Amino acid sequence: MLSDHVQQALNNQIRYEAESSQIYLSMASWAETNGFEGVAQFMFAQADEERMHMLKILHYVNERGGYAAVTALDAPPTQFGSVKEMFEQLLQHEIKVSQLINNLVDITLQEKDYATHNFLQWYVAEQIEEEATARTILDKIKLIGDEKSGFYLFDKDIRALIATAPTKP
Ligand code: FEO
Repeated sequence: MLSDHVQQALNNQIRYEAESSQIYLSMASWAETNGFEGVAQFMFAQADEERMHMLKILHYVNERGGYAAVTALDAPPTQFGSVKEMFEQLLQHEIKVSQLINNLVDITLQEKDYATHNFLQWYVAEQIEEEATARTILDKIKLIGDEKSGFYLFDKDIRALIATAPTKP
């Protein structure tokens, strides 16, 4: 059985993962309409990943005798300026998610909820991967600078990263 504190914290995370999915879906749509087909594919895949992250917690809460709430979400941004700015936002977002997961882990220790602590270890590992992927992509973008042909190749290259994206549980 989950304590109220742990259940509330997990429900907050469900909402945050759902909002992450919407943000990446919005990034995908922006990329698709700005000629970055590879980036769009990457972002559509990221949006699916985040939905899977959300569902995994939702099922966990319900299986442990709690109730996973499905709530309204904040609207994602719709304009991202440039591919570089978009990936900078993605990295900052993932750093924030990592902090939230760390806080959650902390709460499970305070509450002596070792089952949920164990459940969250998958997310701890996943966040290392997600931050690393975002940093790798940003490094590539910084190498390209503003060169158009470089961006054309980058857009093709990024499709390879979809295949190496964190695997589903
Ligand atoms: Fe579900 Fe990208 O954190």
